Amino acid sequence: MMRAQNLTKTFNPGTPIENRALRGLDLDIPTGQFVTVIGSNGAGKSTFLNAISGDLAVDQGSIHIDDNDVTRQNAWQRAGLVARVFQDPMAGTCEGLSIEENLSLAWQRGARRGLRRAVTPALREEFRARLSTLKLGLESRLSDRMGLLSGGQRQAVSLLMASLKPSRILLLDEHTAALDPRTAAFVLELTDQIVADGKLTTLMVTHSMRQALDHGDRTVMLHQGRVVLDVSGEERARLDVPHLLAMFEQTRGETLDDDALLLG
Ligand SMILES: Nc1ncnc2c1ncn2[C@@H]1O[C@H](COP(=O)(O)OP(=O)(O)O)[C@@H](O)[C@H]1O
Ligand SMILES: [Mg+2]
Repeated sequence: MMRAQNLTKTFNPGTPIENRALRGLDLDIPTGQFVTVIGSNGAGKSTFLNAISGDLAVDQGSIHIDDNDVTRQNAWQRAGLVARVFQDPMAGTCEGLSIEENLSLAWQRGARRGLRRAVTPALREEFRARLSTLKLGLESRLSDRMGLLSGGQRQAVSLLMASLKPSRILLLDEHTAALDPRTAAFVLELTDQIVADGKLTTLMVTHSMRQALDHGDRTVMLHQGRVVLDVSGEERARLDVPHLLAMFEQTRGETLDDDALLLG
């Protein structure tokens, strides 16, 4: 369960470049639900994910993950609860370390002790088994440097790393946006599989309305730092892309009016 209540975040307050990125954002995600998130550029999607992961402290509001009030915890303190995959295939893994060293670091996510890269034989077998589920042949390349892998392979490994240890919420921030269409489709399929296998509570940001409707159980649209659309069940099943696009345009039109002065 993840509960975000009345989150606000203003960047550069009181300056000419003041930016109210989150403006009272509420979102409640029950355990095991897979939510897709859409919204135009600057809607606050990444800021919201950064607030959940603790990479960013909110000004007001609260965030609960299960029974934990994590609002004032930093990213490191929440690391055992939150797993994450970024848009940039380079961001989630260390290119200078081997595949198994990267997996080893992920294996220790949220652990109290200092991080160790060393891999025991038993752990190596575990990694081999997990890697083989990707069907990319990476199980025979454990000691290859991460930097040798393609973007799609790196995202697949990032996903595996994010799901290696249990977490309470998985955050995916446009994690297929930098990939070519075929690789993106593969990584999305893998995402569905990993989320289903682990019954993971998941928040996936995507640029694609099609992806937003085809994946997960529920779709929310953010606009100007708030949730402006929240659909699931039958209503969502009936929704098609043109319909969603129309709602997207309508929201933008309506809220732009009331901010017209700010936008000049
Ligand atoms: N670190 C930051 N400093 C200043 N402004 C920021 C920062 N991060 C995001 N913003 C601004 O906050 C708004 C929301 O950004 P973001 O959450 O990245 O949007 P999205 O991911 O929906 O495209 C944008 O106007 C962006 O320029
Ligand atoms: Mg973003």
